[in-house]
Amino acid sequence: MTLTPKKAHDSLVQMTELVLPNDTNTFGNLMGGRLMYWMDIAAALACMKHCAAPVVTASVDNISFENPIKLGNVVHIEAIVTRAFNTSIEVHMKVWGEDPVLQYRYKSNEAFMTFVALDPNGKSRPVPPVVAESEEEKKLFEGALRRRQLRLILGGKMKPADAGELKALFYEQQ
Ligand SMILES: CC(C)(COP(=O)(O)OP(=O)(O)OC[C@H]1O[C@@H](n2cnc3c(N)ncnc32)[C@H](O)[C@@H]1OP(=O)(O)O)[C@@H](O)C(=O)NCCC(=O)NCCS
Repeated sequence: MTLTPKKAHDSLVQMTELVLPNDTNTFGNLMGGRLMYWMDIAAALACMKHCAAPVVTASVDNISFENPIKLGNVVHIEAIVTRAFNTSIEVHMKVWGEDPVLQYRYKSNEAFMTFVALDPNGKSRPVPPVVAESEEEKKLFEGALRRRQLRLILGGKMKPADAGELKALFYEQQ
Protein backbone atom coordinates (compact mmCIF):
# COMPACT_ATOMS: atom_id res chain seq x y z
CA MET A 1 0.00 0.00 0.00
CA THR A 2 1.43 3.39 -1.00
CA LEU A 3 0.60 6.17 1.44
CA THR A 4 -0.01 9.74 0.23
CA PRO A 5 3.23 11.76 0.43
CA LYS A 6 3.23 14.73 2.79
CA LYS A 7 5.23 17.96 2.77
CA ALA A 8 8.15 18.15 5.19
CA HIS A 9 7.11 21.69 6.15
CA ASP A 10 3.70 20.49 7.36
CA SER A 11 5.45 18.54 10.14
CA LEU A 12 7.24 21.59 11.57
CA VAL A 13 7.04 21.90 15.37
CA GLN A 14 8.30 25.00 17.19
CA MET A 15 8.63 24.51 20.94
CA THR A 16 9.47 27.24 23.45
CA GLU A 17 10.52 26.62 27.05
CA LEU A 18 11.79 28.83 29.89
CA VAL A 19 14.82 27.56 31.85
CA LEU A 20 13.75 27.42 35.52
CA PRO A 21 15.92 26.55 38.57
CA ASN A 22 14.84 22.91 38.55
CA ASP A 23 16.12 22.57 34.95
CA THR A 24 19.69 23.61 35.74
CA ASN A 25 22.97 22.10 36.90
CA THR A 26 25.18 23.55 39.66
CA PHE A 27 26.62 26.10 37.19
CA GLY A 28 23.18 27.60 36.58
CA ASN A 29 22.98 26.22 33.04
CA LEU A 30 20.30 24.06 31.47
CA MET A 31 21.01 20.34 32.04
CA GLY A 32 21.72 18.39 28.86
CA GLY A 33 19.28 15.68 29.92
CA ARG A 34 16.41 18.15 30.30
CA LEU A 35 17.15 19.61 26.85
CA MET A 36 17.20 16.12 25.29
CA TYR A 37 13.85 15.39 26.97
CA TRP A 38 12.29 18.48 25.34
CA MET A 39 13.95 17.65 22.00
CA ASP A 40 12.57 14.10 22.14
CA ILE A 41 9.03 15.47 22.65
CA ALA A 42 9.33 18.10 19.88
CA ALA A 43 10.67 15.48 17.45
CA ALA A 44 7.98 12.93 18.34
CA LEU A 45 5.29 15.61 17.78
CA ALA A 46 6.76 16.39 14.32
CA CYS A 47 6.64 12.66 13.45
CA MET A 48 3.07 12.30 14.69
CA LYS A 49 2.02 15.32 12.59
CA HIS A 50 3.57 13.57 9.61
CA CYS A 51 2.25 10.04 10.05
CA ALA A 52 -0.85 10.53 12.23
CA ALA A 53 0.15 7.59 14.42
CA PRO A 54 1.91 7.02 17.74
CA VAL A 55 5.70 6.79 17.46
CA VAL A 56 8.60 5.57 19.60
CA THR A 57 12.16 6.85 19.64
CA ALA A 58 14.36 4.31 17.84
CA SER A 59 17.66 6.21 18.01
CA VAL A 60 19.32 9.51 18.78
CA ASP A 61 22.35 10.58 16.75
CA ASN A 62 25.35 12.33 18.23
CA ILE A 63 24.47 15.59 20.04
CA SER A 64 27.16 18.21 20.74
CA PHE A 65 26.23 21.13 22.98
CA GLU A 66 27.90 24.21 21.50
CA ASN A 67 26.83 26.84 24.04
CA PRO A 68 25.26 26.56 27.52
CA ILE A 69 21.72 27.92 27.93
CA LYS A 70 21.44 29.96 31.10
CA LEU A 71 18.87 30.05 33.89
CA GLY A 72 16.10 32.50 32.92
CA ASN A 73 16.86 32.18 29.22
CA VAL A 74 14.41 30.83 26.67
CA VAL A 75 14.91 27.58 24.73
CA HIS A 76 13.66 27.40 21.15
CA ILE A 77 13.46 23.99 19.46
CA GLU A 78 12.49 23.51 15.82
CA ALA A 79 11.78 19.95 14.68
CA ILE A 80 10.97 18.88 11.11
CA VAL A 81 10.85 15.49 9.41
CA THR A 82 13.53 15.03 6.75
CA ARG A 83 12.75 11.65 5.22
CA ALA A 84 10.54 8.64 5.81
CA PHE A 85 11.73 5.12 5.04
CA ASN A 86 9.38 2.14 5.49
CA THR A 87 8.22 2.35 9.10
CA SER A 88 10.79 4.85 10.38
CA ILE A 89 11.13 8.62 10.08
CA GLU A 90 14.18 10.84 10.53
CA VAL A 91 13.71 14.22 12.25
CA HIS A 92 16.09 17.18 12.23
CA MET A 93 16.21 19.57 15.15
CA LYS A 94 17.74 22.98 15.66
CA VAL A 95 18.05 24.41 19.15
CA TRP A 96 18.72 28.01 20.20
CA GLY A 97 18.93 29.82 23.51
CA GLU A 98 17.59 33.34 23.85
CA ASP A 99 18.31 36.03 26.40
CA PRO A 100 14.84 37.56 26.75
CA VAL A 101 16.12 40.76 28.40
CA LEU A 102 19.01 41.57 26.06
CA GLN A 103 16.97 40.04 23.24
CA TYR A 104 19.54 38.01 21.32
CA ARG A 105 19.59 34.38 20.24
CA TYR A 106 22.51 31.96 20.26
CA LYS A 107 22.82 28.50 18.77
CA SER A 108 22.86 25.56 21.16
CA ASN A 109 22.91 22.48 18.94
CA GLU A 110 21.50 20.50 16.02
CA ALA A 111 20.53 16.84 16.09
CA PHE A 112 18.86 13.99 14.26
CA MET A 113 16.52 11.45 15.83
CA THR A 114 14.74 8.46 14.32
CA PHE A 115 11.24 7.34 15.25
CA VAL A 116 9.21 4.26 14.35
CA ALA A 117 5.42 4.44 13.87
CA LEU A 118 3.38 1.79 15.64
CA ASP A 119 -0.03 0.26 14.92
CA PRO A 120 -2.60 -0.41 17.69
CA ASN A 121 -0.88 -3.76 18.37
CA GLY A 122 2.48 -2.11 18.95
CA LYS A 123 3.89 -3.39 15.63
CA SER A 124 5.80 -1.08 13.31
CA ARG A 125 3.62 0.32 10.52
CA PRO A 126 4.32 2.04 7.16
CA VAL A 127 4.68 5.84 7.12
CA PRO A 128 3.91 8.37 4.33
CA PRO A 129 6.84 9.52 2.14
CA VAL A 130 8.22 13.04 2.75
CA VAL A 131 8.12 15.75 0.07
CA ALA A 132 11.11 18.07 0.44
CA GLU A 133 10.53 21.51 -1.13
CA SER A 134 12.99 24.13 0.13
CA GLU A 135 16.73 23.90 -0.60
CA GLU A 136 17.41 23.05 3.05
CA GLU A 137 14.71 20.35 3.08
CA LYS A 138 16.15 18.83 -0.11
CA LYS A 139 19.68 18.79 1.33
CA LEU A 140 18.45 17.09 4.51
CA PHE A 141 16.41 14.60 2.44
CA GLU A 142 19.41 13.65 0.29
CA GLY A 143 21.73 13.11 3.26
CA ALA A 144 19.20 10.98 5.14
CA LEU A 145 20.07 7.67 3.43
CA ARG A 146 23.73 7.96 4.43
CA ARG A 147 22.88 8.94 8.00
CA ARG A 148 20.43 6.02 8.20
CA GLN A 149 23.06 3.53 7.08
CA LEU A 150 25.60 4.90 9.55
CA ARG A 151 23.20 4.68 12.51
CA LEU A 152 22.03 1.18 11.55
CA ILE A 153 25.66 0.02 11.39
CA LEU A 154 26.40 1.61 14.78
CA GLY A 155 23.20 0.04 16.18
CA GLY A 156 24.25 -3.40 14.93
CA LYS A 157 21.31 -3.55 12.47
CA MET A 158 23.28 -3.38 9.21
CA LYS A 159 26.53 -4.86 7.93
CA PRO A 160 29.02 -2.23 6.70
CA ALA A 161 29.30 -4.23 3.45
CA ASP A 162 25.60 -3.51 2.76
CA ALA A 163 25.89 0.26 3.23
CA GLY A 164 26.02 1.25 -0.45
CA GLU A 165 25.36 4.96 0.12
CA LEU A 166 28.17 5.24 2.63
CA LYS A 167 30.63 3.28 0.51
CA ALA A 168 29.91 5.60 -2.43
CA LEU A 169 31.30 8.45 -0.32
CA PHE A 170 34.67 6.76 0.06
CA TYR A 171 35.19 4.79 -3.16
CA GLU A 172 35.11 6.07 -6.72
CA GLN A 173 32.51 4.43 -8.97
CA GLN A 174 34.17 2.11 -11.56
C1 LIG B 1 12.48 0.89 17.60
C2 LIG B 1 11.83 -0.48 17.50
C3 LIG B 1 10.33 -0.32 17.25
C4 LIG B 1 12.44 -1.19 16.31
O1 LIG B 1 11.90 -2.48 16.31
P1 LIG B 1 12.68 -3.70 15.64
O2 LIG B 1 11.79 -4.89 15.64
O3 LIG B 1 14.05 -3.81 16.20
O4 LIG B 1 12.89 -3.12 14.26
P2 LIG B 1 12.65 -3.64 12.83
O5 LIG B 1 13.84 -4.43 12.41
O6 LIG B 1 11.27 -4.20 12.61
O7 LIG B 1 12.70 -2.23 12.11
C5 LIG B 1 11.69 -1.26 12.27
C6 LIG B 1 12.27 0.06 11.84
O8 LIG B 1 13.12 0.54 12.88
C7 LIG B 1 14.33 0.97 12.32
N1 LIG B 1 15.38 0.86 13.32
C8 LIG B 1 15.64 -0.22 14.09
N2 LIG B 1 16.69 0.07 14.88
C9 LIG B 1 17.08 1.33 14.58
C10 LIG B 1 18.12 2.17 15.05
N3 LIG B 1 18.97 1.80 16.01
N4 LIG B 1 18.23 3.40 14.51
C11 LIG B 1 17.39 3.81 13.55
N5 LIG B 1 16.38 3.07 13.07
C12 LIG B 1 16.24 1.82 13.58
C13 LIG B 1 14.56 0.04 11.14
O9 LIG B 1 15.48 0.59 10.23
C14 LIG B 1 13.16 -0.05 10.59
O10 LIG B 1 12.90 1.09 9.80
P3 LIG B 1 12.27 0.94 8.32
O11 LIG B 1 11.04 0.09 8.45
O12 LIG B 1 11.94 2.33 7.93
O13 LIG B 1 13.31 0.30 7.47
C15 LIG B 1 12.07 -1.34 18.77
O14 LIG B 1 13.44 -1.63 18.90
C16 LIG B 1 11.56 -0.67 20.02
O15 LIG B 1 10.36 -0.70 20.33
N6 LIG B 1 12.48 -0.04 20.77
C17 LIG B 1 12.11 0.66 22.00
C18 LIG B 1 11.55 2.04 21.67
C19 LIG B 1 11.37 2.86 22.91
O16 LIG B 1 10.84 2.41 23.89
N7 LIG B 1 11.86 4.09 22.85
C20 LIG B 1 11.81 4.97 23.99
C21 LIG B 1 13.13 5.01 24.69
S1 LIG B 1 13.27 3.79 25.91
